[in-house]
Amino acid sequence: MSILKNWLGRSSVSDFDFSKLGTDMHSHLIPGIDDGSNSLEESIDMLLKFKNLGYKKIITTPHIKTGVFDNSSDLILSGAKLVQDEIKKRNIDIEFEAAAEYFYDFSFIEKIEKNDVLTFSNNHVLVEYSFNQAPMGENEMFFALQMKQYNPILAHFERYPYYHGSTRKAEELRNKGIKIQVNLLSLFGHYGPQIQKQAALLIKERQVDLLGSDCHRIEHLQFLEKNLKNDLLNRAGDLGLFNNQL
Ligand SMILES: [Fe+2]
Repeated sequence: MSILKNWLGRSSVSDFDFSKLGTDMHSHLIPGIDDGSNSLEESIDMLLKFKNLGYKKIITTPHIKTGVFDNSSDLILSGAKLVQDEIKKRNIDIEFEAAAEYFYDFSFIEKIEKNDVLTFSNNHVLVEYSFNQAPMGENEMFFALQMKQYNPILAHFERYPYYHGSTRKAEELRNKGIKIQVNLLSLFGHYGPQIQKQAALLIKERQVDLLGSDCHRIEHLQFLEKNLKNDLLNRAGDLGLFNNQL
């Protein structure tokens, strides 16, 4: 983090107020359909924690990845209904809706062609790449989405090692109207120092559109809670980069 030390290095910071973000647009809270929440109880516990942190609205985005998480739109929406019914039953004051986190593969292209794509807030679609291999043909994929009036968001950009050390690709995508999302946990080093460094660079260069929790389990939110004084998080808030009006 040495190159960013001077830019960070704040002497005192206050607790970050998550109501600044308002909405979280990346999480895994539909029970039992991906590697996120395992039960309705666990989903409710996480939602209560989000509410305590100051969030008003949660857009959950279960994985859709061929051969790993073969979730259909109907399955996700019926799972969301279960959670919404429980929220109502327990009288919890938080908005909850579902879309998906689409892994960029051949079946995603088919889904775009069939208009079988779950969206949120003005037709936004969350897309992720492989962590191991730089994508191929992604410009065509984004173009196909945009031709159908979808607004693509690339999930956790800082976690793709093949883009580390530069913000060039983020700038290129943003110039084409694709939004860049960064995980909150990356700011605290949850995925390691390289990813933390890339997140810091993206924030410093103002190449981030959205901050998401990518919450899979309650420990992720406890980790957020423990890092409210984090320099990078507060600097991002000071810069007003993340006004998530979704
Ligand atoms: Fe995710």
